[in-house]
Amino acid sequence: MTSIQDKNTWSGRFAEPVAELVKRYTASVGFDQKLALFDIEGSLAHAAMLSHCDIISTQDLADIQRGLEQIKNEVLANTFIWSLDLEDVHLNIEKRLTTLVGDAGKRLHTGRSRNDQVATDVRLYLRHAIDELLALIAALQTSILNLAEQHTLTIMPGFTHLQVAQPISFGHHLMAYFEMLKRDAERLQDTRRRVNRLPLGAAALAGTSYPIKREMVAELLGFEGVCENSLDAVSDRDFAIEFTAAAALIMTHLSRFSEELILWMSPRVGFIDIADRFCTGSSIMPQKKNPDVPELVRGKTGRVNGHLIALLTLMKGQPLAYNKDNQEDKEPIFDTVDTLNQTLRIYADMITGIKVKPEAMRNAALQGYATATDLADYLVKKGLPFRDAHEAVALAVRFAEQRGCDLSDISLPELQKFSALIEQDIYQVLSLEGSLASRDHIGGTAPKQVQAAIARGRDYLSQH
Ligand code: ARG
Repeated sequence: MTSIQDKNTWSGRFAEPVAELVKRYTASVGFDQKLALFDIEGSLAHAAMLSHCDIISTQDLADIQRGLEQIKNEVLANTFIWSLDLEDVHLNIEKRLTTLVGDAGKRLHTGRSRNDQVATDVRLYLRHAIDELLALIAALQTSILNLAEQHTLTIMPGFTHLQVAQPISFGHHLMAYFEMLKRDAERLQDTRRRVNRLPLGAAALAGTSYPIKREMVAELLGFEGVCENSLDAVSDRDFAIEFTAAAALIMTHLSRFSEELILWMSPRVGFIDIADRFCTGSSIMPQKKNPDVPELVRGKTGRVNGHLIALLTLMKGQPLAYNKDNQEDKEPIFDTVDTLNQTLRIYADMITGIKVKPEAMRNAALQGYATATDLADYLVKKGLPFRDAHEAVALAVRFAEQRGCDLSDISLPELQKFSALIEQDIYQVLSLEGSLASRDHIGGTAPKQVQAAIARGRDYLSQH
């Protein structure tokens, strides 16, 4: 970035130039240049409206369009020269436009303020980001469906308190994350509706005295409507907070998933292996293969959660309407988008690189009396009240534990000591397959129910 010695946009009002340190402190061009293409898009719509309403001439409009087109190309080619003296993305572009096309460039800002301009730019940026993120969530969901489909019959222990609870299928476990991501996508779609409203026309805070047509600008930019109060239009950042909250929740889901992948990949558990391209070795221990990617996802969740708190704190004490504080919204928003975007991309690929070890999963499910609830349910179905059944099975588990065997290894006469209701058919009930198959209702782990859930998932994705 150069620092061309240039008169400030507002130099007429000031007796001395801004101090160097202050200039650096207040400038945002170092990061808000990310908004350049959205700023140009907004300016083109604004200029078209100004011309349509006879506030500027058609010649001015043509000049502005030509100038902005060139600037767009310079930005895309990375040849645009950003100047710190021009503070932010808006003034940099406006100055360049004036250099390129003369007075028409100076007329572009008629009926507009940087306050409604920046709010518009951020909304355009976020809308675009959300659309990309929604596609990435769908891609990750597809990866999950594909893996789940291969594992509706792969049995693993389900846990509560990280203790073996009941047998489930690996496919069923994966589909839990599909559901979370479905809600995540819904939240983003809902947020998008509130992002997609036009602040332009609010000008500095009170509206403008020119005969503008805000609806026309809204339509040109694909907004669903205009912000209906000019003070709110320039000061509202709810949409950014909502977005970041939705993003923090997505990261939280992926962080939980990551924690499980890390655990499953630990040689102590050994349920899965993650493809080498997502892992790193150790500089000192030659045997190590570390799950760096899931660990970093878990770590980066902290930074996105932090951005949410930063934005909430940014807004909590601000009086209406625009305050310079708002400039601090950009880096948290940008970093949230970038972090989430990269995380979703890498995750979709990582899921395809998971190697499942069904034997290890099955062995783990066979330990820890995962079918004890099935035995209790069996007794209940034969007429025993659930609490009594619970007690009978607890005693049976204690017996098996002392023997160092599974419930299914206990002979029928011995089992019958715990309840006379137990018959030969109990062994099917105590099997892992029997346990899974019996949970045969929507949302249950029975293989056919998981297959149905996967089919519903595919259906959902084809419609969204
Ligand atoms: N760079 C500023 C921001 O990001 C643009 C708006 C500045 N408005 C003002 N009145 N100083 O918020």
